[in-house]
Parts: sequence; C-alpha cells; structure tokens
Amino acid sequence: MDIAVIGAGYVGLITAAGLAETGHRVICVDDDLGKIEVLNAGGMPFYEPGLEGLVKRNRAAKRLEFISKIEDAVAQSPVTFICVGTPPLENGEADLSSVELVSRRISECARGYHLVIEKSTVPVQTGRRLQKHFSIYGNNPQFHFDVASNPEFLREGSGVEDFFHPDRIVVGVDSDEAASRLEEIYRPVLEQSFVCPVHENCEKRSRVPFVVTDINSAELIKHASNSFLAMKISFINMVADLCEAVGANAAQVAEAVGLDKRIGASFLRPGIGFGGSCFPKDIQAFARVGQGAGCDFALLREVERINQRRIAQFVDKLKNELWVLRGKRLGVWGLAFKPRTDDVRSSPALAIVRQLLAEGAVVRAYDPQAMKKAKAEIPEIEYCADAYEAARDAEALVALTEWEEFLELDLTRVRRLMARPLILDGRNMFSRDAVAALGFEYLDIGSGAHARKLPLGAS
Ligand code: UDX
Repeated sequence: MDIAVIGAGYVGLITAAGLAETGHRVICVDDDLGKIEVLNAGGMPFYEPGLEGLVKRNRAAKRLEFISKIEDAVAQSPVTFICVGTPPLENGEADLSSVELVSRRISECARGYHLVIEKSTVPVQTGRRLQKHFSIYGNNPQFHFDVASNPEFLREGSGVEDFFHPDRIVVGVDSDEAASRLEEIYRPVLEQSFVCPVHENCEKRSRVPFVVTDINSAELIKHASNSFLAMKISFINMVADLCEAVGANAAQVAEAVGLDKRIGASFLRPGIGFGGSCFPKDIQAFARVGQGAGCDFALLREVERINQRRIAQFVDKLKNELWVLRGKRLGVWGLAFKPRTDDVRSSPALAIVRQLLAEGAVVRAYDPQAMKKAKAEIPEIEYCADAYEAARDAEALVALTEWEEFLELDLTRVRRLMARPLILDGRNMFSRDAVAALGFEYLDIGSGAHARKLPLGAS
C-alpha cells in the first residue's frame, strides 16, 4: 500500500521504516529540513539500535523516501499516519497545534478516500476533533475522509523490536473500511509473517492480538497504559523508601511481588525515577484529561510527586556520605533517561547533575551515546572520553543510567583511579557483594544498609 507518515521522530521514523520493511511504499515527511537532509544523506537524527540499517535497506529498495512537503506525500497515498510531537504545554495539557496544522494541510490536498490515522499520543476525543475539523476544512466533494486512532507502544532503545514484535496492535475506528485497511497494513506484523530484521534466528511467534475498538477508547488505552507503567515504578520506589527506612531489601521485595502473575515482574525496578519523552508528559496530560472531565485523578498526581522527589532524595543520600558537596569532584556514569538511547528528555540523570552543580560540586560525566545532547542542555560540566576518566580522582561515583558497558568495566582499575571508592548506584545495576568484595563503599536504592531500627510494635 502507498502510505504517508507525517513526522520523522521516534514514532514516525520507526513506523515508516517498519511499514516499508513489511512491503509498503512509504513516504515520510518532516518539516525540519535539516532532519530530512540528514536522512537523505544516509544519516540518522537520533541513535536507535537497528533503525539505521532498516532505513538504509528500505531506501535502497525504493520503499522508503523522505521529503518535507506534506502535499506531495498525501497526494500519492490513501493513508496518512500522523506521528508529530504533542509536547506538554505549561499547564501540562498536550500541545496539539502540530496535529491540527497537519490535518489542515491534509484537508487541503487529499483527494478521494483518505484514511487519517492518529499515532501521536493524544488526549481522548482528539479523533472526534479531527473528524469535525475535516468536515469543516475538508469540505470538497473529492475528499472522503476517515479518521482512526492507532496508538504506539514502542520503547526507545528497543523501538524496532517493539514494532515487529508488539504485545498488541490497537486501532480505534468508526468504519469497517478503516478497520480492514489497518488490518491489511499490519497483516505481516499481525501474522508475524516477515523476515525478522531484529533477531537472527527469530523463533516462530504466535499471532499478535488485533484490538479493534472505538476512537475514544483507543486514545485512552495509550494514556492508561503509560500511566499504569509509571504508577508501577512510583509504587516500587515508594516501597524502596520504606525498605531503606526499616532495613529490608527492595530488589527482593520487587522480585517476590513480581512473581505474582497478576502483577508481573516488569517495571518494578527501583531507582532515581522515570524520565523520557513519554511518561512524564503522558501522566500530566492524562491527569488534565481526567480533571477536565470532572474525574478525580489525584492518584496520578501522587505518581508524579513520588517521581519528582527521587532527585532530591538521591542527592541527600550523597550528602549523607560526603557532607558538603561544594568543590567535591564527582564522577557520573550515565546521562540518558535510560540505556540504549541518546535521549536526555526529562532525564532523571540530568536533573541530578543540575542538583549537584547547584550544590557546587565538580561534575565529570560519561555516557556512551547521550553526551552530545546532554552538552546542549548542560554545557558547564566536563564530558569524559570514557567511564574510567570520569572516575579519575572522584570522591564518589554516581551511576545514573544502567548501560550494559558499565557492567563490563574493570572495577579494580576504577577503584585505583578514585580518591574515595564510593559508588552510589541510582539504578541498582551493580551487585552489592561484588563491588564490596573489591573494596568499594556501595549504596543502592532500596536496601536498608543504613536502616534505622523502628521501636518495637511500631506499625
Ligand atoms: C515508554 C513506554 O514503555 C512505551 O510503551 C511508550 O510507547 C513510550 O513510553 P520509553 O519512554 O522509551 O517507553 O521508556 P521505558 O522503557 O518505558 O522507561 C521509562 C522510564 O522508566 C525510564 O526512565 C526508565 O529508566 C524508568 N524505569 C523503567 C524505571 O525506573 N524502573 C523500571 O522498572 C522500568
């Protein structure tokens, strides 16, 4: 099928390349000319494992092209995915101005039947707004529109894998036509009938659930899914605080809680909190939607509050060990909001670095992929060539993103380089016993090494 994808960010670029890989002819549009130039020169606007190869192969096969004009793409395709950004406004609501702008352009140039699919994360009832919009601005006899919602669940760092092996594909439609076109678009993924570009010996997988519902419900499924995952993280962080206070082990608590199939082990890893371009903004937007509809969404406010407090709690823990941070040389491992990405948007690691700077500490940092983007946000710290350099003469090492490569380091060498062998692990990536055996002082999140005894009978 000929498909237009508007927006070459994480969602747009992975969707465009994925759909092309499964045989569709895709035109991906972005109004950022610089980004289009980079893509047409064979470069990538961001780091995402496996995506560069996918884009290269499909461009070479003439199934994927990048342009900057919406009209040219929409005129050639009966289907358009809207994958533009919906960043938060001051008040936390989602900014839908790009969605509106794109839909205006579509209504001006589309001819015949045109299926407009919202894939950006949008608040409930945006699809209804789009329908109203098209009925007003798309008022030409040649334009017969259909609107659908198709929320995206891909995670940065494993986006390509998530495209080809999703837990489910959700579509919100108002017509059988839209439902059948979306089923046709995703058939290879639904049937898992493609040559897997991610796993060499990809084992045969069962059919992917195809959830067909109404547009409002599909939009809510996205916000509810992300908010639930974020709530799970804040829940385990809340429990980790108690574990530290009473002398229990949050990692073991999480493991045992996660063994309950009704709960599940994923997203129960305590740490310095969730970040990225999705959870923080989706929580805010969903809370606004709930409030706007007169519903009590205080729970999400609490999820957000617990998350925001992680930063000061972690810096306090460091001050407990180092007393005054002013003038102290600190090594920082990890700046990205999570591993396998160069994304630093709402990164807890950057929030902690800012706090350390505010305390007057001397910060020397290393991240395998995110230093360029971190430098644009915090130019005043020292960016090191490698993790060892960041540890040199440090009074403490704070580990803020759980990159695999940190686990492969020669910690004996690190210990020799440091002024004081103290590790504060904000992502519980190291084994306490292993680092203690190497002579490090070690503090993680949620184990009560520094517990205070509760008076007997306290509940
Ligand atoms: C998320 C959703 O997972 C994805 O489905 C949606 O499409 C987009 O938003 P992403 O933002 O890429 O994806 O990151 P994710 O892997 O979900 O991690 C989010 C944050 O939570 C990261 O900062 C991560 O470090 C943190 N996290 C995750 C924890 O602190 N503990 C956990 O157990 C899991």
